[in-house]
Amino acid sequence: MKYTLAFDVYGTLINTSGVFNSLEKMIGDKAKLVMDTWRNKQLEYSFRRGLMNKFVDFSVCTKNALEFSCQTFKVNLSDAQKEALMNEYKVLPAFADVKEGLQTLKNEGYKLYAFSNGSANAVSNLLINAEIIGLFDGVVSVEEVKVFKPSPLVYEHFNKKTGSTKETSWLISSNPFDVVGATSFGMRTAWVKRSSESIFDSWGIEPTEIISGLTELSSKLENY
Ligand code: 2OP
Repeated sequence: MKYTLAFDVYGTLINTSGVFNSLEKMIGDKAKLVMDTWRNKQLEYSFRRGLMNKFVDFSVCTKNALEFSCQTFKVNLSDAQKEALMNEYKVLPAFADVKEGLQTLKNEGYKLYAFSNGSANAVSNLLINAEIIGLFDGVVSVEEVKVFKPSPLVYEHFNKKTGSTKETSWLISSNPFDVVGATSFGMRTAWVKRSSESIFDSWGIEPTEIISGLTELSSKLENY
């Protein structure tokens, strides 16, 4: 079966640690704390807005979360520095395994989509900058249904938009909340465990497969 594959973007295809290096230059040893709080708050804001039916462009969650994180750790970044960090978020690099992993899957006839909370425009720009846009059959953003992951509505939207079904599609993500959401919806899922320290939520909802990089996916999919 040549499945339709939904690839999460931030943290799965795209390495957000590029922002960390800039942040470290700005604020030194608080960078890790600020970065982790920034990412966690960005996602929390998307969850809350989904529940509140107050959808905004994901970049607003990102900007609001940066503000919160700076206030939490009493870090005084100038508007120009915040702007620079937000701009860096638009041009982050792909992980080293991504191009080769996607090319193999494309050669084997799978349909590949980037699937993200980010807007189609923001995601397309990221993929163009990372020089991997040509490997995808398309980009699917949650903006069309105005709710964020892990609402079942977004996975349903992905299937509708790509002409796939729960049975003929996979969600591939490094973000456990995304994998739990898609598994719960009924899709098969692969968790990209990019760090040995990464921990999966112990809800009893498990990914179909666990991989450490996209080059491992092809051989796993052959079993389905
Ligand atoms: C996404 O790209 C936020 O990583 C998540 O949808």
